[in-house]
Amino acid sequence: MDLNFTLNSGTMMPKLGLGLYKAVSEGEVVQAIKDASTLGYRLFDTASAYKNEEEVGLGLKACGIPRSELFITTKIWNTAQRIGNVEGAFERSLERLGLDYVDLYLIHWPVPGCYLDTWHALEKIYKSGRARAIGVSNFNEIQIQDIIDHSETVPAVNQIEYHPLFNQDSIRTYCQNLGIAVQAYAPLARGAYLDKDVLKKIAQKYNRSTAQIGLRWILQKGIGVIPKSVHLDRILQNSQIFDFELDDLEMATIDSLNEGYRSASIPEDMQI
Ligand SMILES: NC(=O)c1ccc[n+]([C@@H]2O[C@H](COP(=O)([O-])OP(=O)(O)OC[C@H]3O[C@@H](n4cnc5c(N)ncnc54)[C@H](OP(=O)(O)O)[C@@H]3O)[C@@H](O)[C@H]2O)c1
Repeated sequence: MDLNFTLNSGTMMPKLGLGLYKAVSEGEVVQAIKDASTLGYRLFDTASAYKNEEEVGLGLKACGIPRSELFITTKIWNTAQRIGNVEGAFERSLERLGLDYVDLYLIHWPVPGCYLDTWHALEKIYKSGRARAIGVSNFNEIQIQDIIDHSETVPAVNQIEYHPLFNQDSIRTYCQNLGIAVQAYAPLARGAYLDKDVLKKIAQKYNRSTAQIGLRWILQKGIGVIPKSVHLDRILQNSQIFDFELDDLEMATIDSLNEGYRSASIPEDMQI
């Protein structure tokens, strides 16, 4: 399995990254980025809403990996979309991160009545070279089609909640058919599936953890993963998912765990 996607922007995006939501203190964030980069992680996922872009910037400097080898994602929050100051919000994110470009800039949530204007502003940022790719998060099929019908740029990525308990296969296949890379957030469902007996049985066969089985199942759906951890042993464990393969029966068995369980926010609540 390739370790990277080639995005529709022509840039490469690693299939594995480190999520940084709820990693807040400087020490914690810097150490997690240093540990992860030593273990081979190159993608780091933050957002202005996580209130840790400055700490992430410090971690990126401290890790010593050349900027050109890193893949940094950040996201525009709903308030900035409503105010209509996308450019200002983007510049502030760059400043906090201490970067002069990001690899991926995402619309965090599809705020109704705003997301098209936000997208047009992201297109300008993309054309200026300060974001190597632009994309969306938490968008459904109708909202993605709306963007495609009313702009020049197809989103490079849709970042959505996706894990064995919430298998969003309709939006996944829709995006993949359009060449939009899908990236799974909350790929561990924040721990909610790790005790499932079905997964324990499969994990035993491969001598892996249930977290690794869940992450591998996602990868085999052609989706990237950005598990969050600030613990070295888990950061390592979550990266060891490229050297074994689930068979068709195991994939189908994990498919059957889908129960529509969301561990993160409900999009309708976030769009108000
Ligand atoms: N676009 C969006 O709207 C959106 C929404 C939510 C999240 N995200 C992004 O996606 C990333 C991942 O999602 P998430 O942080 O919500 O949830 P997650 O990655 O599914 O779960 C993270 C939780 O699992 C624990 N954990 C990590 N590895 C583990 C392992 N191997 N075994 C057992 N527990 C483990 C972590 O604890 P420790 O840190 O203590 O190890 C943390 O409490 C976020 O950090 C963020 O970057 C995006």
